[in-house]
Amino acid sequence: MKSIKFYEKLLNEIEADIEIVIVINKNFDQRFCDNDKELLAEIGFSGEQDEVCILAERRKIFVGANSIDSSDIRSASACAVRALIGKGYKIAKMATYMHHPECTSVLRAQAEGLLLGGYRFEKYKSKKSDKYLHKVRISIEEYNGFNINIPSIQRAINKAVICAEATNFVRDIVNTAPDDCYPETMSNIAKELSENSHHLSIEVLGKKEMEKEGMNALLAVSRASRHEAKLIHLSYRPKEEPIATISLVGKGLTYDSGGLSLKPSDFMTTMKSDKSGGSAVIGILKAVSELNLPVEVHGFIGAVENMIGGDAYKPDDVLRAKNGKTIEVRNTDAEGRLVLADVLCYAQEKVKADYLFDFATLTGACVVGVGQYTSGVMGFATEPIQKVLYAGNTLSGEMVTKLDFNRFLRKSLKSEIADICNISNTRYGGAITAGLFLSEFIDEEHRDKWVHIDIAGPAFVEHIWGENPHGASGAGVRMMTRLIEKLVRNDEHI
Ligand code: BES
Ligand code: ZN
Ligand code: ZN
Repeated sequence: MKSIKFYEKLLNEIEADIEIVIVINKNFDQRFCDNDKELLAEIGFSGEQDEVCILAERRKIFVGANSIDSSDIRSASACAVRALIGKGYKIAKMATYMHHPECTSVLRAQAEGLLLGGYRFEKYKSKKSDKYLHKVRISIEEYNGFNINIPSIQRAINKAVICAEATNFVRDIVNTAPDDCYPETMSNIAKELSENSHHLSIEVLGKKEMEKEGMNALLAVSRASRHEAKLIHLSYRPKEEPIATISLVGKGLTYDSGGLSLKPSDFMTTMKSDKSGGSAVIGILKAVSELNLPVEVHGFIGAVENMIGGDAYKPDDVLRAKNGKTIEVRNTDAEGRLVLADVLCYAQEKVKADYLFDFATLTGACVVGVGQYTSGVMGFATEPIQKVLYAGNTLSGEMVTKLDFNRFLRKSLKSEIADICNISNTRYGGAITAGLFLSEFIDEEHRDKWVHIDIAGPAFVEHIWGENPHGASGAGVRMMTRLIEKLVRNDEHI
């Protein structure tokens, strides 16, 4: 799906190949399905959330939504568009969905869902499909019959397009095969982005520069790879005076084989997705710069490949991180925290931020603990964590949940020979012990500004759910963009 356009026309005045109708709360009495009610009942369409039914002869596609909440409408819109892939319809039309005459949040979710659901990754297909939906035309006709404010509708659609396109951009990066997307590729993608925007700038550090910075933990992980590690610092400086400065740190493991603590084959496949955190950071900068938000945002991405070989770092090695702390390596597959340790130190030294967020596919334990659809959120201070929870669960529809630190789990990272060990001595609480490991690299000044977000579950799921297609989801982009938007305008209805 390429584009969404708003038309100041009634539905029956808009030309299209098919009309998308959302059936909300199994309510078929709305004017949009009156004539089709019996037929839908006959073929067993009950209007469950995300259930889809095409009535080809009526040129309509129906999709169920449990309520007119943003997350239900986003998911339903995505499912409708997905069901149209390969069917040959080129243009669809649809009503506007709002839950309140002055609030465009549902419409924004609707537009996002259309673009997110229409995503396809065809880079490696010899034959690209030509049967796909090109456009959705949204009508001035509103589901509840509200009179709508056209400029605010246009703004909402515009924001939806920026956020969804940034998410799809991240999906493309993450879905790209590891031999086509390695650290230098990531830095090139970020460079290209900054060249196309007046407000973005970039600095990339290679091995030599990182040696000078004392980033020995990150460099150890990278050592057995034929691809040089890159530290990407992508910055956005708004034209207006910024109201806040935000640092974002991302785990960009372009491949995680596990290193000498090699992953079993079944666990290694999909590890091209270990660059999801870093890719999300690039996507967030793309969205924030296109939205022209008056916030200064710095993205720091540790782009590294974790491989095996005669030069590989080993369990039993002791590494000295940038802040001088020594780390006993007991498992080379716990590499993300080593990379992030150095990148977090670098980010804090470079920028004194009001908020510091890190995104990482850090632990399988997080997926076990909270399921594959939800991210785990950790940190010391309540306020920034609450912001992430609200921006995730309420505004963006990305599910997030808080995981609590405690001093007993902290003890499980003790090392007999170094300052800290890279794995814990207990089988339990692996997502939290990984977060606690990172916390050792947060300085006093940033302690209450830092939030760690473990996106290991939702970043890459092998089956379709809601607005997410097979493969990369682009987790983190919509959530963080919404958080930053809300810092600027403390108004829920944006
Ligand atoms: N990249 C993985 C975490 C992961 C697992 C992400 C599954 C997505 C899906 C990470 O580097 C890793 O291997 N973590 C280990 C840590 C362990 C050795 C302490 C894990 O979770 O098993
Ligand atoms: Zn690993
Ligand atoms: Zn990893």
